[in-house]
Amino acid sequence: LYIGVDLGTSAVKLLVMDETGDIKKIVSKEYPLFFPHPGWSEQKPEDWFEKSMEGIKELTAECDKSQVAGISFGGQMHGLVALDKDDKVIRPAILWNDGRTGEETEYLNEVIGKEKLSEYTANIAFAGFTAPKILWMKKHEPENFAKITKIMLPKDYLAYKLSGSFCTDVSDASGMLLMDVKNRCWSKEMMDICGITEDKLPKLYESFEVVGTLKKEVADELGFSENVKVIAGAGDNAAAAVGTGTVGDGMCNISLGTSGTIFISSNKFGVDENNALHSFAHADGHYHLMGCMLSAASCNKWWNEEILKTKDFAAEQDGITKLGENRVFYLPYLMGERSPHNNPDARAMFIGMSMDTTRKDMTQAVLEGVAFGLRDSLEVARRLGIKIERTRICGGGAKSPLWKKMIANIMNLKVDVVESEEGPALGGAMLAAVGCGEYPDVEAAAAKIVKVVDTVEPDTELTTKYEERYQQFRKIYPTVKCLYE
Ligand code: XUL
Repeated sequence: LYIGVDLGTSAVKLLVMDETGDIKKIVSKEYPLFFPHPGWSEQKPEDWFEKSMEGIKELTAECDKSQVAGISFGGQMHGLVALDKDDKVIRPAILWNDGRTGEETEYLNEVIGKEKLSEYTANIAFAGFTAPKILWMKKHEPENFAKITKIMLPKDYLAYKLSGSFCTDVSDASGMLLMDVKNRCWSKEMMDICGITEDKLPKLYESFEVVGTLKKEVADELGFSENVKVIAGAGDNAAAAVGTGTVGDGMCNISLGTSGTIFISSNKFGVDENNALHSFAHADGHYHLMGCMLSAASCNKWWNEEILKTKDFAAEQDGITKLGENRVFYLPYLMGERSPHNNPDARAMFIGMSMDTTRKDMTQAVLEGVAFGLRDSLEVARRLGIKIERTRICGGGAKSPLWKKMIANIMNLKVDVVESEEGPALGGAMLAAVGCGEYPDVEAAAAKIVKVVDTVEPDTELTTKYEERYQQFRKIYPTVKCLYE
């Protein structure tokens, strides 16, 4: 049996599968997210570990525990977890959607320079990336910065607590702006710029490599053997790509989670000249390009739960039929925006209401606004000459048939729906299976385990209507941008 842990932003999701990919059980445990200032976003690493341990126990309660062979992860990316010499968490983790590092990001991009950053790491600085957070801590919390002995990413904290191995994987490390993505090693120049030394950074592994086995006390607590292997795992997007079979060359996956991403796998290393898309290492041993919106399914959650005061998202979507005809637009920038605008200070807005605008029109605008935002990143990829005709899809938002239809028609893509939309957790379990030798490589595991069960085809009449709407949507952000400078 293989356990996959998806360390998300709203919850940790865990699944256990057998060697054929048959999912036996799924468990989810929520933990709080803190917004101590507008635009800041933090979590407690201790909560992640506590909830993951609770989750693993519940997940395997009915299993023959002696059959558990490996455990691995898909983790929310970019978060800064810093430990002191006694392995204590120094301050709450600063997450991927935290926008406090505007100044540090500007310093990196303008003073060090985008060209140099791109040469060292294949990427430029974005507010959510780890390196600007290290600089922020150095400037604003020097006493905390001085205590740092270990820097790691969220899922690496779990691997460290489970196995004692101070490790990370190349896909997740790509998002730190500290790794030379092309050569899959730490960048000396970036360490110097951030004022840290290599002994403070985890050892780099490929996502499917074994980093250690369970610590005795952890194995005892879980009722597992100490021989259970811990496999490095991947950033949640790379893990989701594995879980949807987006491996090898030229495949695409869209994730509609708290964030929204468009992920394009590639056998060759490549960089978007304008750096609007991230150039990262993939969990299959190759590379990928990715656009990331900071608020995707979280826009729908906010709209339903905070504003409409309902948890019945499906009921709110019932009766939305006039696709392509909505006069209301929604800009999905609740936490600022990463791809393609790179503006942590951007904010969300509705525009275009009239006296006959209904609640349903607004709900429709929220869903469409996220799809338009993803289309912005797809356009960047298309401008690079990348041909994408179909995509896979995963994440909580992928459960909505209406949203999938909007994605297919707004982006003009065939949307292949896979049997399980548990992208990162399934991908994590698959990486564990590869690490334990069940499959020769990630592509072989995906070929065996991932099944496409349906395809949502774009419809010519709808894509034409949506094309017109998208051309209007694109004009809004440049017009209102001056409000957020
Ligand atoms: C990717 C990103 C998000 C998080 C979400 O660059 O920041 O997708 O990984 O967990």
